[in-house]
Amino acid sequence: MASFSERIQSVSPSGIRKVFDSAADDAINLGLGQPDFPTPEHARRRALEAIRNGNADAYTPNKGTHSLRDAIAAKYDRDYGLAVDPDDIIATAGGSEALHLALEAHVSAGEEVIFPDPGFVSYDMLTRVAGGTPKPVGLRDDLTLDPAAVEAALTDETAAFIVNSPANPTGAVQSEADMRAFARIADEHDVLCVSDEVYERIVYQGAHYSPLEFAESDNVVVVSATSKTYSMTGWRLGWVLGSTRRIDEMLKIHQSIQACASAPAQYAAEAALAGPQDPVTEMVDTFEKRRDLVVDGLEDAGLDVTVPEGSFYVMPEVPSGWCDAMLEHGLIVVPGDVFGENGAGYARLSYAAGTEELQDAMEIVRDVTQTVHGSR
Ligand SMILES: Cc1ncc(COP(=O)(O)O)c(C=O)c1O
Repeated sequence: MASFSERIQSVSPSGIRKVFDSAADDAINLGLGQPDFPTPEHARRRALEAIRNGNADAYTPNKGTHSLRDAIAAKYDRDYGLAVDPDDIIATAGGSEALHLALEAHVSAGEEVIFPDPGFVSYDMLTRVAGGTPKPVGLRDDLTLDPAAVEAALTDETAAFIVNSPANPTGAVQSEADMRAFARIADEHDVLCVSDEVYERIVYQGAHYSPLEFAESDNVVVVSATSKTYSMTGWRLGWVLGSTRRIDEMLKIHQSIQACASAPAQYAAEAALAGPQDPVTEMVDTFEKRRDLVVDGLEDAGLDVTVPEGSFYVMPEVPSGWCDAMLEHGLIVVPGDVFGENGAGYARLSYAAGTEELQDAMEIVRDVTQTVHGSR
């Protein structure tokens, strides 16, 4: 019968889209998951040169151009002191494809995937697409993922657990001790740790650590992208990094679904990674100021907020009806339960928006929160 697969029918469309669809055209949008900065000029230029010179017309090697993978490997040396073989990297269509490859290659039908709840919406969907069973686990009070909670959720059926730091939707950053513990769990229990590091450079306090730095086995696979760090969400360029045997298996899927990442985007990404990094520093400095503005605004409105240490999201606790009330008053925020059951009672606000917009948004928050509280 020309019906649909059970796997796909078990997946619901993104709840974020539904919020956008019901918003007024002139609403202030704090629902977006992308930086409001231009892609660095040198990255754009490099893609244009490649197009003009005819270097972007053909398929590249499946894993991506050698020079892009050299630039990615050099980044791991620079940022973490890790020696990565460029052949152990696949350039992908954004972090999204990288996550898809990691789960598709490692999860068998019925196996479980543990991930943070609230967490990035694709973890649940991609687990189902791979035929696996989602195992969301709740967070600590500071919205970080507790390694002990992951360890307690492991069963004989666990194929993988996902760690995401800095995190979407919470803005939480895992400590070095946590990352060491995730690496130990992957080693000791022989289970795969998928570390989603797409926000790795957007950190305000402390530093980002990767479980890859601490694992003794090859049970850590890293997913990252140029999307957030270089404001390149539209270019669709990410990567997955793992041991040779894991890359070999993931490559089988990538060859069939993608052949190679878009060639112009590969050139742009190489320039972004290898070129001057001041656009990243400037963007992160700006995000930090906006974070302070938004946290102050939410606290002034009487909301409880865990101060986010990274990414560009904040997740305050909100009274019932708060998100709908914001939407009615022209402010788009995303209800926390879109990111998992434990997100209920929270909202996600993205501060990847201009300062004036954020100031206007905080005025709405202050005024409308009073009304919502008052009506309880
Ligand atoms: C935590 C997380 N991982 C992965 C992605 C996917 O990123 P990309 O746009 O590179 O596919 C996102 C995008 O919002 C994200 O928030």
